[in-house]
Amino acid sequence: MTLRPRPVVPAARVGTVERVTTAPDLPLLARGKVREMYELGDDLLMVASDRISTYDAVHPTPIPDKGRVLTGLSVLWFGLTGDVVPNHLISATDGVPEELRGRALRVRRLEMLPVECIVRGYITGSGWKDYQRTGAVSGIPLPEGLQESEQLPEPIFTPSTKAEEGHDETIDLDQAAELVGSRELAERLRDTTIAVYAKVAAHARERGVILADTKLEFGLDGDGELVLGDEVCTPDSSRFWPAEGYAPGRSQPSFDKQYVRDWASGPAGTRRRRRPRSPRTSSRRRASAT
Ligand SMILES: Nc1ncnc2c1ncn2[C@@H]1O[C@H](COP(=O)(O)OP(=O)(O)OP(=O)(O)O)[C@@H](O)[C@H]1O
Ligand SMILES: [Mg+2]
Repeated sequence: MTLRPRPVVPAARVGTVERVTTAPDLPLLARGKVREMYELGDDLLMVASDRISTYDAVHPTPIPDKGRVLTGLSVLWFGLTGDVVPNHLISATDGVPEELRGRALRVRRLEMLPVECIVRGYITGSGWKDYQRTGAVSGIPLPEGLQESEQLPEPIFTPSTKAEEGHDETIDLDQAAELVGSRELAERLRDTTIAVYAKVAAHARERGVILADTKLEFGLDGDGELVLGDEVCTPDSSRFWPAEGYAPGRSQPSFDKQYVRDWASGPAGTRRRRRPRSPRTSSRRRASAT
């Protein structure tokens, strides 16, 4: 999704932010699968809805207060990782309309880089599939004989494309360099992503939670500085496992949306033909229902 100007739509009429009855009349810049971006002077208001998406499609049923969880966790991690890399958070209150507090943030407007910065400390999900097929992930060869969910010798950077349509594709560092324009910037993205992961993972691990992997998004500000944007280490962008009972060799119980992915890709999702509707369709339907 790019931030192309769109017609001004009063937020109250958008109707996609669940359980919000009044909302500001701000210009809507872009609507993603989960977030709405509004113009707030030179800044942006990033509003996290209660929508849930898997495999790039939005499910018809929202999860009450999910947007608040995403916003609260992002604020926590922006604070904790501010010494690793500057981020886009300006304020959770200043300029944030009263009725959206808790699920909206005032952020700096960035030119987002067209790469999803994924870091994996443990081998699972699509990384596990790639490893089983090729012994490598994103062109990074891994030791032989790894088991599902096993901790990697060190966290690896496995970027992907940020597809406007369809699914993101895993790429290697050379391809990431092509997309962002230089090898140097791609290496900075890799090193910064791994440093953010290390900080958050250590904090979580002390509290009994394993951060298996996560996806970050970066942008450049008006001065060309690298800035961490979007959301950070939320259950939408990460895999969190309870440390207690963790054992490689199988999938892990999780605190993120993995169980929704499993449901959507399993027999229940297919049999009941409950393929999630497209974001546009589902938000339109909800708009007319509210
Ligand atoms: N500070 C920022 N400036 C500009 N764009 C931003 C900023 N922070 C996040 N974004 C973009 O806003 C969008 C957030 O909405 P959401 O996460 O719902 O989109 P999405 O459907 O996941 O789309 P995408 O696949 O592009 O992430 C993303 O496209 C993200 O790149
Ligand atoms: Mg997103």
